[in-house]
Amino acid sequence: GTVVLAYSGGLDTSCILVWLKEQGYDVITYLANIGQDEDFEAARKKAESLGAKKVFIEDLRTEFVEDFIWPAVQANAVYEDRYLLGTAVARPCIARRQVEIARTEGAQFVSHGATGKGNDQIRFELTCYALYPEVKVSLFIYCVDEHGIPVPVTPRAPWSMDANLMHISYESGILENPKSRAPADLYLMTKNPEDSPNVQDVLEIEFKNGVPVKVTNMNDGISKNTALDVFSYLNEIGGKHGVGRIDIVENRFIGMKSRGIYETPGGTVLLKAHLDIETFTMDKEVRRIKQGLGIKFSELVYNGFWYSPECDFVRHCIAKSQENVEGKVQLSVFKGQVYILGRESPKSLYNEELVSMDVQGDYDPCDASGFIRINAVRLREHHRLQGLSSTK
Ligand code: ARG
Ligand code: SIN
Repeated sequence: GTVVLAYSGGLDTSCILVWLKEQGYDVITYLANIGQDEDFEAARKKAESLGAKKVFIEDLRTEFVEDFIWPAVQANAVYEDRYLLGTAVARPCIARRQVEIARTEGAQFVSHGATGKGNDQIRFELTCYALYPEVKVSLFIYCVDEHGIPVPVTPRAPWSMDANLMHISYESGILENPKSRAPADLYLMTKNPEDSPNVQDVLEIEFKNGVPVKVTNMNDGISKNTALDVFSYLNEIGGKHGVGRIDIVENRFIGMKSRGIYETPGGTVLLKAHLDIETFTMDKEVRRIKQGLGIKFSELVYNGFWYSPECDFVRHCIAKSQENVEGKVQLSVFKGQVYILGRESPKSLYNEELVSMDVQGDYDPCDASGFIRINAVRLREHHRLQGLSSTK
């Protein structure tokens, strides 16, 4: 049979390529460009030299931003209060194209390099089964180097890295000890705030439907307005000022805890800006429901259920909530932080007249007294009960 292998050009997936060939498969390699720093042509040559029947290199950067990062921005997606899900949102994007290729090439099998104990295997395979139910996943059992594969002479990195447009994650190796600090030269997307510029960048981000449509740098007038350009530019500015580094211990889907270090510069700037324009424009009670859906969405995405009925439903609800989330947020990026400076919106629910202490508006203080007394009924009852139990 024919197998489409998600190929990275690295050692692990090169081993798998050779192993699959030895098992008798025709191997099509597929390498997704989702913004990682990679020599794609070198990877193509390597795959060909190892006997790939066909090589696909697909530029998915724009669809990664529009179809996966933007819904995460709308959701304020954060897993366990800190992780912005940069790897988790990339997996369904990669696997979606992989099964498209498998279908058009008439391949019944797919394969990938994600190993056991991980979330990535689950995310890849769930996406494949959801979008191509008849597919079979050929699992690579173990990897040895006596296949004659060009093994790099440099030693393997002391940690494992997963890089894309949204983030870089670092885990395993010397990072497995949760107490040991990350070396200063680990970070590739963000500057150490200690070494970052002493001058802030002031940005204006314009939102429509809860996603950024334009970013302007107020320092120099630079402006970007396509999804890919906006997100890349926010990465550049966030990275320059050391925004979006976290070091966490998280709960993997399968139940074990793992230590991860992440840098998500542009995503962190956007999260702060989106939260601001969202609260400015969204009804209070809608916001509460939507906040709960955002947590649900984050768990589903983390656990690999992007393509599931429940995630589809949650995404639609969240998208609906974003209809009026538009306007401009001004913010400063400086020394690892994002400072909101102001906001404006044609859809704002903020009423300067109503909120003002100097203007009466449509607000009667006598109504307030009654409202407060009714709210106090419950508090008084609670107090009475406490009094009763303390006399026992
Ligand atoms: N722990 C993170 C997650 O589950 C990052 C995983 C990174 N993957 C990797 N193969 N290094 O989303
Ligand atoms: C892996 O490389 O597959 C392990 C990381 C993870 O999926 O959590």
